[in-house]
Amino acid sequence: MVNSRRRCGRWQIARSARMRIGSLERLSHTWRRIRGWVPIGLGLIGVLSCAWLAHTNIIDNLSLFRSPEVIPIPNIFGGPTTLVSIGAYVLAGLVGWALAHKAAHTSPSSQDAPDERGNASHVMQDLQELLPSTELRDLPHVAAYAERMRARLESSREDRHLWEEVIEEIVEERTSELVALYEQLRRKDELSKRLLGKVLTAQEQERARLARELHDEIGQALTAIIMTTTVVENSLPPEFVSGREKLANVRNIASQALNDLRGLIFDLRPEVLDDLGLALALRAQTKKHLEPLGIQVELRASGLRDNLPHEVETAVFRVVQEAITNIARHSHATQASISLTKQEGRLLVRVRDNGQGFDLAQVMNGPRQAWGLLGMEERVTLLGGKFYISTRPGAGTLLLAEIPLDGDWNSTSARGGGQGHGQNTRANR
Ligand SMILES: Nc1ncnc2c1ncn2[C@@H]1O[C@H](COP(=O)(O)OP(=O)(O)O)[C@@H](O)[C@H]1O
Ligand SMILES: [Mg+2]
Repeated sequence: MVNSRRRCGRWQIARSARMRIGSLERLSHTWRRIRGWVPIGLGLIGVLSCAWLAHTNIIDNLSLFRSPEVIPIPNIFGGPTTLVSIGAYVLAGLVGWALAHKAAHTSPSSQDAPDERGNASHVMQDLQELLPSTELRDLPHVAAYAERMRARLESSREDRHLWEEVIEEIVEERTSELVALYEQLRRKDELSKRLLGKVLTAQEQERARLARELHDEIGQALTAIIMTTTVVENSLPPEFVSGREKLANVRNIASQALNDLRGLIFDLRPEVLDDLGLALALRAQTKKHLEPLGIQVELRASGLRDNLPHEVETAVFRVVQEAITNIARHSHATQASISLTKQEGRLLVRVRDNGQGFDLAQVMNGPRQAWGLLGMEERVTLLGGKFYISTRPGAGTLLLAEIPLDGDWNSTSARGGGQGHGQNTRANR
């Protein structure tokens, strides 16, 4: 309220000041226009006065200048021509000439220019006297304030330069810190990749060792049992019927155990990869896990005539093996398709089923870790590849892996890996 009143008062003062300045300017303009003619006017009055004095012989009549001799020259104003009247004429002429000369050499602009500043200061003075406003009376203070502002601006500009330098230094420092951190992170990433590669390699080696031992120890023992029971059975006299039956039973159990063991060894160690190649090893997996469930399987492989790098074969075998197991365990599918395509220096792996699908985000963020899906992704990622999962409840599941065949996965001793998720689709890169 107080502020608005103050603002209103200031506005009125400023308005009346502007009006007064306007009338002052008009006055000063008129004065400048008439000022040039004043000396000329005064000169004319002087000339006319001298002429009038000469004409009326007032000076002649004063006893001091009395000159009785009348000179025989006609007087333009009438009356007698004396020495005094001639002197008055000459004086009037000189005064007239001097004034005309001054008027001719004093141009209005040269009159005005030196006075302009004086006028301005006069106007300022007039203003200060006339204006009631303390704000406008304080114009010199305003000028001083402006000067202080300029000085402050100058110093803040210097400050800005200083700050710019400081900030530049900080940015440089932070940048080098970030570069060092990035380098550290890159080295750690490299190290963790190597470690993961080593873990996977060790895992494969351990599986191979286990498979070998199962084959060599348990497998051999079961084979020995089967052979021995057959020998004993054959050596028994025909009347030992019940003994023969028991021996046959033992042999059947041992044969069944040997079959299961072979299946276990097959899953543990993809030796069949070396013997039959990736496509046939996967065919054996589908036969073993999917066909008994009545799931129709289509398996296609193209461009795999040349052997794939060992690491890639092992990783792809493990990834598809896990996908097949998942289809068998979780999908309730009736159809599945697996395709391996080698093209343009990369291997594309696609596994699809028409089963019940699942909520990927829920599975990945759920309390139970999805080790199978994570393992697939880790193996693919470790080979420098990309891994995608596309699924949603009721819409089946599609897994895609894209593995470069000219990658530097050899340097990490990798044998597969991967990771990834999303609402319906998950990609690792
Ligand atoms: N093909 C599939 N069809 C339906 N659900 C699947 C399929 N594959 C995976 N899942 C779901 O994802 C979960 C995680 O799978 P996974 O990581 O392989 O672990 P696990 O097989 O040990 O349960 C499964 O429990 C299942 O719910
Ligand atoms: Mg699984």
